Amino acid sequence: MAGTDGYLKNLARRKSIQSILDESADDSRSLKRVLGGFDLFMLGIGGIIGAGIFALIGTAAAGDSLRPGAGPSIIISIILTAVACLFCGLCYAEFASMVPISGSAYTYAYASLGELLAWIIGWDLLLEYAVGNIAVAVSWSGYFVEFLRSFGLEFPRYLAVDWVTAAKHPEIAEAAPKIFGTPVIFNLPAVFIVALLTVVLTLGIKLSSRFNMTMVMIKLAVLAFFVCVGAFFVDPANWKPFAPNGWAGIQSGAAIFFFAFIGFDAVSTAAEETRNPKKDLPVGILGSLAFATCAYLLVAFILTGMIPAKDLNTAEPLSVAMRVVDMNWAAAIVAFGSIVAHTAVLLVFQLGQPRIFFSMARDGLLPKGLAKVHPKFKTPYVATIIAGVFVAAGAAVSSLEEMADLCNIGTLAAFVIVCLGIVILRAKEPGRQRAFRTPFVPLVPILGILFCFFLILGLPKLAWIRFALWLLVGLVLYFIFGFRKSRLRTEMENGS
Ligand code: ALA
Repeated sequence: MAGTDGYLKNLARRKSIQSILDESADDSRSLKRVLGGFDLFMLGIGGIIGAGIFALIGTAAAGDSLRPGAGPSIIISIILTAVACLFCGLCYAEFASMVPISGSAYTYAYASLGELLAWIIGWDLLLEYAVGNIAVAVSWSGYFVEFLRSFGLEFPRYLAVDWVTAAKHPEIAEAAPKIFGTPVIFNLPAVFIVALLTVVLTLGIKLSSRFNMTMVMIKLAVLAFFVCVGAFFVDPANWKPFAPNGWAGIQSGAAIFFFAFIGFDAVSTAAEETRNPKKDLPVGILGSLAFATCAYLLVAFILTGMIPAKDLNTAEPLSVAMRVVDMNWAAAIVAFGSIVAHTAVLLVFQLGQPRIFFSMARDGLLPKGLAKVHPKFKTPYVATIIAGVFVAAGAAVSSLEEMADLCNIGTLAAFVIVCLGIVILRAKEPGRQRAFRTPFVPLVPILGILFCFFLILGLPKLAWIRFALWLLVGLVLYFIFGFRKSRLRTEMENGS
């Protein structure tokens, strides 16, 4: 390896798809294939429908101090976001059917764009899964506390908030117990739910999948309940003005609401545990995306018809809408459904994150211990526990909106790389078998990329800055660890 040329070649080294497939065929280093197409569809719904529709739709419609809201034109925002996800989902489906391995976009990038970009995407996916889950766990805690309140139980506020919120409300710190003069303030329910799910996931994916299916049934029933009951209270006057903040509101509404769609891609992280990945993965990814889009449009249509959009900036807009129309019992049912929905999202994302760690560790880009598979449960248990600790610690001290913005920008960046990967791989390996082919390449991937940029532009500048810092830290880590320890590099050097 000589000079700058060799160095750059190392950064662009690609893993061949064949070697990726061969590795996963090695039983001692692979996961158990137990999931079918319907399991994947349900996993997708489990991961998609959660904090986005139950909580963030309020901010997307009403706006907040950082951005304008879409008002009733949130319907347009949802359609735009769904179209963006459809283009990206078509690219995901081609990759997932061609490289059905647990690392999702990370593995696809390794095969098409080289090691450096693969590392960046793996690092980026931490934002999607782990940071996204921090946001969901915080939102879960909010609904949980609300739910207890409907039974007259008051959970101590200092044990259910982040530090920034506590700083704005001095009475919280005053009520908190002190250790050496420092008030004890953290989000206990958020930590609790992440810990519980980490145990479930360590015990086995089939158990996790059954647990997920039950939760999905409940949340769909509750959303159907909301639409059916809410329909009786729609007042068309609430749909006027349709777009109070014009195009800017529609764009920022779409950027916030993007969070509600994240999750369809998580299906691809279960690729290695799927019985017939080539057929089942596209069904799981595109089916769950289409279903969620219809559900979101119905809910948004009813919600914005029930109360004026400006009143929706609350952490629990669906319950609030029910209360405003004097349906308190219905509000409690919706709050319960929301807790269940959040739990399912947490489960799917806590399932996805370790599988990305697992794939990166198997490639030598992260410490080897993360690639350990449990001898009895056949799950990547070390990675599962580490992901659990990271998310629980983050959820203990973070706020919902900030984490959701960071998750959105990281995921959008990952989507851009996946779309790019499809175009590159079609050119580099046109003859490779593709069980699912993205239609109209390169038009669809290019549209996917353009739509992602449209959504990124709708996010606040603070999120861009945080994202840039995150990437910087990731690059430093790559050069300190991943670059040197890469298995591909060692193999190439030994072979040469
Ligand atoms: N789509 C997931 C949710 O809305 C992240 O909670």
